[in-house]
Amino acid sequence: MKKILIVDDDMAMGEMCKELLKSKGYASDAVTHGKDAIEKVSMNGLYTIVLTDLVMPDMDGIEVLKKVKQHNPNIDVIVMTSYGTVTNAVEAMKLGASDYITKPFKRDELIIVIEKILQLQHLEGEVDRLRSELGEKYTFGNIIGESPKIKKIYEIISNVSNTEANILIQGETGTGKELVARAIHYNSTRKDYSFVKVDCAALAETLLESELFGHEKGSFTGATKDRIGRFRTADRGTVFLDEIGNISLSVQAKLLRVLQDSEFEAVGSDEPIKVNVRIIAATNADLEERVEKGLFRRDLFYRLNVIRILLPPLRERMDDIPMLVAHFLSIHNKKNRKKVEGLSREALTKLMSYNWPGNIRELENVVERAVILCKGNMIEPVDVPLYQEKIGALQDLSGKSLQVLMDQVERQIIINTLELTSADKEKAAKLLQISRASFYNKLNKHKITELL
Ligand SMILES: Nc1ncnc2c1ncn2[C@@H]1O[C@H](COP(=O)(O)OP(=O)(O)OP(=O)(O)O)[C@@H](O)[C@H]1O
Ligand SMILES: [Mg+2]
Repeated sequence: MKKILIVDDDMAMGEMCKELLKSKGYASDAVTHGKDAIEKVSMNGLYTIVLTDLVMPDMDGIEVLKKVKQHNPNIDVIVMTSYGTVTNAVEAMKLGASDYITKPFKRDELIIVIEKILQLQHLEGEVDRLRSELGEKYTFGNIIGESPKIKKIYEIISNVSNTEANILIQGETGTGKELVARAIHYNSTRKDYSFVKVDCAALAETLLESELFGHEKGSFTGATKDRIGRFRTADRGTVFLDEIGNISLSVQAKLLRVLQDSEFEAVGSDEPIKVNVRIIAATNADLEERVEKGLFRRDLFYRLNVIRILLPPLRERMDDIPMLVAHFLSIHNKKNRKKVEGLSREALTKLMSYNWPGNIRELENVVERAVILCKGNMIEPVDVPLYQEKIGALQDLSGKSLQVLMDQVERQIIINTLELTSADKEKAAKLLQISRASFYNKLNKHKITELL
């Protein structure tokens, strides 16, 4: 509880003020010596206002004011002056007193002065609170960044989390789609139930169907026991459908029914199952284009796309790089027991002038490797080799056929892409816009699998 401290060598006056304040519900203590006041203020953090007489033997009110302010400038000091010493009050105001009151004063006068100060203190507290709240908004859970574009995303996340609307998150690889999906779930009323992620691209059609909806034992070869399915696991929680762009039309139809009626049947069963799930879908494909081409159902698209979150690529919010680098530095310093302090200006410039095709994931990988490789306590440009640079570095052209050189380049591109995706082959194939099969062929051809 906040308290007021009264300092007056006239004990009766001190007690009178104390009673008066008490009658209005304000707690206070009264002392008769300046040095007692200073001791009380420094021992006890509760005092937010000091009401002090100006003319006192030993230590005068100006001295009290100075010492209190030295100890804590946020404490408001009000001085009491007698008729004829107002000039002293003016001096006190110059030294930082918040207000003064002339003795003798009426009850109300004192109360008005005190309440005005309390109100100001309340407002200041409010401003501080808002400021720190804003500070927190520069990060949202684990999402880092303070560029206008990412702040917009924080705003959307906090606005949509507590609604039931389905959400479609679109963005290039590594822009944080999954991170955002999780942030939405953990900020929603569903947070005490499951967040279930299904990687739609990683599963063949039939597997995806039974993964999502479950199956009955014997419903297809390999279905040796019942499977409950992700939608039921996620009941009352959130299903995150990652890479939804390529799911088959038959799975699309089933999904649509879940979205419309919260109902579906397990594979091989005709018993409808009811669930209460919220769906967040993510894709780095252009879904509208797939709709136009007839590869994605329009009605499903509309149902998923109630709210769309478009995550900007890192190159459109480069001002977040320093903050992200600091974040990843601290993570990877800890992980690798290193004490890298930061980046040299040249290294930062290099990161700031790159186009980041792998977005934040790529940035994190670059920082992690730099932490491991870095010899001193600052990261230098050599510690942060970037994608294009590495391809440019194939200089040994002498006496080689075009085919051999092209193979070299292809190999390097594949290695770099795997680096971008943290060795996720599905993703790498997608980035390079080749099929999984031909990606695997190339891995074999260039003997890259041995490196993984
Ligand atoms: N704003 C951010 N702040 C901190 N870390 C981030 C941010 N955005 C992404 N990351 C990190 O970058 C990595 C990639 O993020 P995430 O997996 O969410 O991307 P994605 O968009 O789902 O990528 P993909 O399309 O390749 O699946 C993760 O390690 C994630 O923690
Ligand atoms: Mg993802």
